[in-house]
Amino acid sequence: MRAYRHHFHAGNFADVFKHALLARLLVALTKKEKPLCYLDTHAGIGRYDLGHRWAQKNREYASGIGRLWTRNDPPALLAPYLEAVRAENPDGTLGAYPGSPAIAQRLLRSGDRLVLCELNEKDKDTLRGNVARDPRAGVHLLDGFQAVKAFLPPRERRGLMLMDPSFDRKGEYARVVDALTEARRRFATGVCAFWYPLMEPAALRAFERALRDSGVPQILQLELWVHPADWTVDLRGCGLLVVNPPFGFAAQAREILPWLVDVLAKPGSGGQRVRALS
Ligand SMILES: C[S@@+](CC[C@H](N)C(=O)[O-])C[C@H]1O[C@@H](n2cnc3c(N)ncnc32)[C@H](O)[C@@H]1O
Repeated sequence: MRAYRHHFHAGNFADVFKHALLARLLVALTKKEKPLCYLDTHAGIGRYDLGHRWAQKNREYASGIGRLWTRNDPPALLAPYLEAVRAENPDGTLGAYPGSPAIAQRLLRSGDRLVLCELNEKDKDTLRGNVARDPRAGVHLLDGFQAVKAFLPPRERRGLMLMDPSFDRKGEYARVVDALTEARRRFATGVCAFWYPLMEPAALRAFERALRDSGVPQILQLELWVHPADWTVDLRGCGLLVVNPPFGFAAQAREILPWLVDVLAKPGSGGQRVRALS
């Protein structure tokens, strides 16, 4: 199987969904003065050149961030995310896209810490180069699922974990359930977010059953899709599970997601939902 490289997908609709919500989580968590730790278990390279031939191959960003870039009516709640994208493109032309580490770098404070894990050796080196001048950031060549055991709970006892696996092998839904259970066991008060793709309905039903059976309370499920349920050509939609969502986060998501659907999906093809799973 070919290794997954996020550069082909950077800035697509799934990144917009994930990073808009990530930015809201970071804003909520940085309201309290106490320092926090951000753990990114599948960090990628941190920043993406959209002119690179991999990003240009299918130009996925064009139907993602490219659609938001030119709009003058985004909800105010999207400002932290859009400002992070603008910061990568100071001349106003969309040529680069921030990955989750860059968004966290922008929204975290000087006393916070970033723990970034990436299993692809080349991507780890690129990531290290991209955050080299940031004393808050540490980069680790480590399996993201092992990172839960290695880094939770963080010494700050406050934190946000993002688990954003590539879902390029079988059993990834089950691994996410295991990781969610383990993260909750180790760090009961931590905010943990898990991205997943919308694949076959039967696999999704089994995933939700396993999440409910895990007994982990306070799981918020957020989903956005840009194609109908029978779409099999490429990624139809995606979701984010948030354990211990900050107060007000669900209401914010209910404001942001309908706008994103309108911008990202063809009329009548897309949708979104936000609900408590447990
Ligand atoms: C979807 S991308 C991450 C994108 C990044 N979180 C962002 O939002 O900018 C998934 C990344 O996980 C890496 N990866 C794949 N399997 C991994 C594993 N077991 N542990 C850690 N990283 C892994 C891939 O090389 C890829 O860079």
